[in-house]
Amino acid sequence: MRDVLPVAARVDHPRFLAFVPSAPTWPGVIADYLAAGFNIFQGTWLGSGGPSQLELVVIDWFRQWIGYPETAGGLFTSGGSAAILDALVAAREAAGWPERPAVILGDQTHSAFRRAARIVGIRPDGIVVVPTDTSFRLDPGALAAALTTARECGLSPIAVCANAGTTNTGAVDPLPAIADVCVQEKIWLHVDAAYGGFAVLTPEGRRLLAGIERADSISLDAHKWLFQPFEAGCLLVRDVATLVRAFAVDADYLQDTKLGMEHVNFADRGYQLTRSFRALKVWMSIQTFGLARFRAAIAQAIELAALAGRLIEETEGLELLSPPSLGIVCFRFRPPGAGWTEERLGTLNEAIQVRVIASGTAMISSTRLHGRYALRLCVLSHQTTLEDVRGTVLRIAALGRELELELSGNFHCPE
Ligand SMILES: Cc1ncc(COP(=O)(O)O)c(C=O)c1O
Repeated sequence: MRDVLPVAARVDHPRFLAFVPSAPTWPGVIADYLAAGFNIFQGTWLGSGGPSQLELVVIDWFRQWIGYPETAGGLFTSGGSAAILDALVAAREAAGWPERPAVILGDQTHSAFRRAARIVGIRPDGIVVVPTDTSFRLDPGALAAALTTARECGLSPIAVCANAGTTNTGAVDPLPAIADVCVQEKIWLHVDAAYGGFAVLTPEGRRLLAGIERADSISLDAHKWLFQPFEAGCLLVRDVATLVRAFAVDADYLQDTKLGMEHVNFADRGYQLTRSFRALKVWMSIQTFGLARFRAAIAQAIELAALAGRLIEETEGLELLSPPSLGIVCFRFRPPGAGWTEERLGTLNEAIQVRVIASGTAMISSTRLHGRYALRLCVLSHQTTLEDVRGTVLRIAALGRELELELSGNFHCPE
């Protein structure tokens, strides 16, 4: 408590607005304590019939929230990265293990997808990255063209990745049009909804994510916008049999665990045999607070980021670089007047970021949007208030003015 734990980011702090925050509920924390204490082995029905039944229940909640058919199913994973990896294994199996497999993704796709592609054996020339449009969205026409070109080059695309909330800007790809291309081209569509997916619980998120239910697979992270402690990823697939075909392998020493279709062995749905009981945390926190509280918390975060966007537009010196979407907003301080090259603006905003963090105002992170240095706020926590967001944006503007003077050499210390 004294020497180790303080030397870690407080990712659950209301003003932790960097990267992707995670603010767990207390029943979720107690659930993890119980799961660890009872040391549940959640790989086979024989090992944990009760917990396996509960995982089926929670996965079925997710299935219904997404709007997937009853054929759909999935499993909890360590996180979004593992969910994507499992999805690509299933996609490769469905594609029949082609000689030169490829994947197609937009340039805003999370790096976890490229890593998973590498792990499943896709060579660098098979990782086809399509530039996104001015709104950071994957254009269906550009996707279709990339598929054609890849095939002309002798590659066999096994999956397309679309995003339901990019980590950079919260952008949502045009999912229905991308699904049309994938159906026409007979290619597996994975939608990475690791951070944005649970927004389907709100009317605005439902509207933005329309078409997500047409994906062959979806990655979700309950440790992001469903307020669970790490690790709580999830993979859902439209047809759960595709997962079993990809992962089920026989072993003599596990013959006692084959209890039939009704008794799901979660080890047959993903790459882990020994698994912990992750579903319990979601179940306990939703039973404790009710789903309405989760819907309200997600809606509130979306609204706070929208308010931050409006404040940025109204505040002199601040410039919006991507519109608020699913809790994320990107912007920068841009002083009036000529002479502010992209490089100098980058230096100025980097200095602002360092001071915001050093002053203890808030934890914010930065990114690059079409080459431009951007400050990025990600509002996901159920504890973040309007004052947290307002205070952070206004402090950034004030620091921008201070640093502008310092950088332009006009700054004089007060007498
Ligand atoms: C959109 C998206 N996909 C995938 C990931 C990777 O998920 P994890 O860190 O849970 O492995 C993240 C993490 O932030 C993400 O935001």
